[in-house]
Amino acid sequence: MAKEVITHSPEETTNWGRELAKRLAAPVLVLLTGDLGSGKTTLIKGIVAGLGAANEDEVTSPTFTLVHVYGNAARVYHADLYRIENFHDFETLGLEDVFDKPGVVILEWSERFPLEFPWPQVRIRLEHLGGDARRISVE
Ligand SMILES: Nc1ncnc2c1ncn2[C@@H]1O[C@H](COP(=O)(O)OP(=O)(O)OP(=O)(O)O)[C@@H](O)[C@H]1O
Ligand SMILES: [Mg+2]
Repeated sequence: MAKEVITHSPEETTNWGRELAKRLAAPVLVLLTGDLGSGKTTLIKGIVAGLGAANEDEVTSPTFTLVHVYGNAARVYHADLYRIENFHDFETLGLEDVFDKPGVVILEWSERFPLEFPWPQVRIRLEHLGGDARRISVE
């Protein structure tokens, strides 16, 4: 899988997420950075669907609800740190238990609140390239 791809539609981005999902094994943290509307949630639809944890249309932005949990046995957590400014806020997410069992934890705006996480990490950056073009790069 290429470290960098340029997509030209939301479908291409979700398809790339499905490919990425094949390479993810719990426990793992997927940390996404990128401007508003760069496609983080769109990419996560593909990742979660690729993991078999939910359908694409069940994956929505947790901007206000903060944390979504998908799947049964293989737990997939999807959180958005956009509104997280300090450790107290982070604690309100209730993510403590997440690390009890191996799972897949996917964070949007992960740079907002840098943390020491106990699991291997995959860092992904999304950038607008104008129109519907987006560059997705894996660190
Ligand atoms: N190539 C593309 N890849 C991903 N999304 C695209 C692409 N082209 C257009 N879009 C559109 O851009 C928008 C991306 O929104 P999305 O919610 O995924 O971004 P986000 O990075 O999660 O934003 P936020 O920071 O607000 O959570 C969607 O409306 C999507 O349809
Ligand atoms: Mg989003």
